[in-house]
Amino acid sequence: MQQHLTIVDHPLIQHKLTLMREKTTPTAVFRQLLHEISLLLGYEVTRDLPTTTRRIETPLMEMDAPVLKGKKLALVSILRAGNGLLNGVLELIPSARVGFVGLYRDEKTLEPVQYYFKVPEGLKDRRVIAVDPMLATGNSSAKAIELLKQAGATDIRFMCLLAAPEGVARMKEAHPDVPIVTAALDERLNEKGYILPGLGDAGDRMFGTK
Ligand code: URA
Repeated sequence: MQQHLTIVDHPLIQHKLTLMREKTTPTAVFRQLLHEISLLLGYEVTRDLPTTTRRIETPLMEMDAPVLKGKKLALVSILRAGNGLLNGVLELIPSARVGFVGLYRDEKTLEPVQYYFKVPEGLKDRRVIAVDPMLATGNSSAKAIELLKQAGATDIRFMCLLAAPEGVARMKEAHPDVPIVTAALDERLNEKGYILPGLGDAGDRMFGTK
């Protein structure tokens, strides 16, 4: 993956994202739309995975058919909102191992605080796809990537739903080697670190906690 930032402007994604942004969209619909978008983003975030060929027999003849090659994958959900993107990507890559990084944002300092970390062994030999819907200040995402690197990961990509320019800049500064795939790049952050126009708190909207 060459570019640092990829915005997936597919009409289906953009339509579904608009529905998610609307404040009247109910929790169950919001979650379903996020799941549907995760499948489409998952398609894009895996676009450059290398392939090789395997000799197979169709009912009619032999052929050299493409199969994925190289490193196995690990998906890492940044809790809790990352779980809204996780299952879709896991449906696309059912054999991927799964890890979780628990970070919450201190609402005063906006700094990430770690409360959970459990990732597959041998992370250094895996391609890692970290998922979190909202790349806002970038502090949590940069921290999560730092923890993954400390655990041995060297090949990481980051998939989110919405990104703020501030978050993209923070990630570029901290982890220029980590490509970002997002459905949209919004305008800016507000004083509380929420993305504008955004969609509000992704975790709350997904789980109905507010
Ligand atoms: N996290 C969210 O859920 N929403 C934002 O706008 C920013 C961070």
